[in-house]
Amino acid sequence: MTGSQEGTCSDLVIGGDSFLGAAIAAALTDGRQGTVVKTSRRASAADTVAFDLRDDPARALGALLPATVYLCAGITSISQCEDDPAGSRRVNVEGMVRVARFAHARGSFIIYLSSNAVFDGHQPRQRMDAEPGPASEYGRQKRAAEEEILALGDGAAVVRLTKVVAAERQPFSSWLSDLSAQRVIYPFSDRHLCPISTQHALRAISVIRRAHAGGILHVSGESDCSYGEFAARLADRLGVRRELVVPRKSDDAPGWRARYSSLDVTETAARIGIGPQSLPAVLADLIAAA
Ligand SMILES: NC(=O)c1ccc[n+]([C@@H]2O[C@H](COP(=O)([O-])OP(=O)(O)OC[C@H]3O[C@@H](n4cnc5c(N)ncnc54)[C@H](OP(=O)(O)O)[C@@H]3O)[C@@H](O)[C@H]2O)c1
Repeated sequence: MTGSQEGTCSDLVIGGDSFLGAAIAAALTDGRQGTVVKTSRRASAADTVAFDLRDDPARALGALLPATVYLCAGITSISQCEDDPAGSRRVNVEGMVRVARFAHARGSFIIYLSSNAVFDGHQPRQRMDAEPGPASEYGRQKRAAEEEILALGDGAAVVRLTKVVAAERQPFSSWLSDLSAQRVIYPFSDRHLCPISTQHALRAISVIRRAHAGGILHVSGESDCSYGEFAARLADRLGVRRELVVPRKSDDAPGWRARYSSLDVTETAARIGIGPQSLPAVLADLIAAA
């Protein structure tokens, strides 16, 4: 598909090539939950519209009237946002808010994927009503987009996710194949995550879609751990020797440096029945998807 799109669809995934956008589209299609259209900067498939977040949404998306729009595109590299704050802000804030307002004005329910990076990482289990204080340009951009999208009211959900681990994403894909082949891995001992599985994120997003649950929702793992600890638990789960996991310092490797990512999910659990995902459940999903 190119240019202005004929017809309509039930779900529109902005950023259909992104890891999470592709997973959302596949889950909707596999579950026969409606007609899904995706956008990508390179429209190559019949169900994909060419769209850059810097474009005018009316031109590219004006003929579509989706019930739900998922906002998954954007510059997700922390270092790229740091290196080009103005250029990345045009995409992650200005472009994102433009497409959110456009779709909301036409009656679509908006699901914006946000991040624990709106907090500075000094406190575990941040509550939904805690004042954000991002420590990175990426986090500041996520927060700026959140504020504008929340101003749209109940027709928009801001879904803050912690780190989504998946068998097809690095470093987890390499760890799975190396450990399974009894090869040593070297995870960071001084970088931390609060993992959730792709399946957990998709379950939450599916309930939010069905319930039209607006406002802020937190989707989080139960606790924070280092990449080294996570890899050791993965080795246990795979039934291989812990000696294969050799943690090392990250030095100046790019990425999230803060100690904590976890989010408090008390309100999300009360509203949509999705609680914190335990580490054993994350590992089970990760291995099942490998
Ligand atoms: N993955 C996680 O663990 C996680 C955790 C918390 C929150 N999130 C949020 O979830 C969302 C999706 O994350 P992800 O990891 O799935 O993303 P991703 O795999 O890094 O993909 C980002 C996508 O955005 C596209 N993009 C970049 N610049 C664009 C532009 N100017 N116009 C249109 N598209 C553009 C990229 O397209 P190209 O392929 O053309 O470059 C890419 O497909 C993000 O908003 C992220 O903040 C993710």
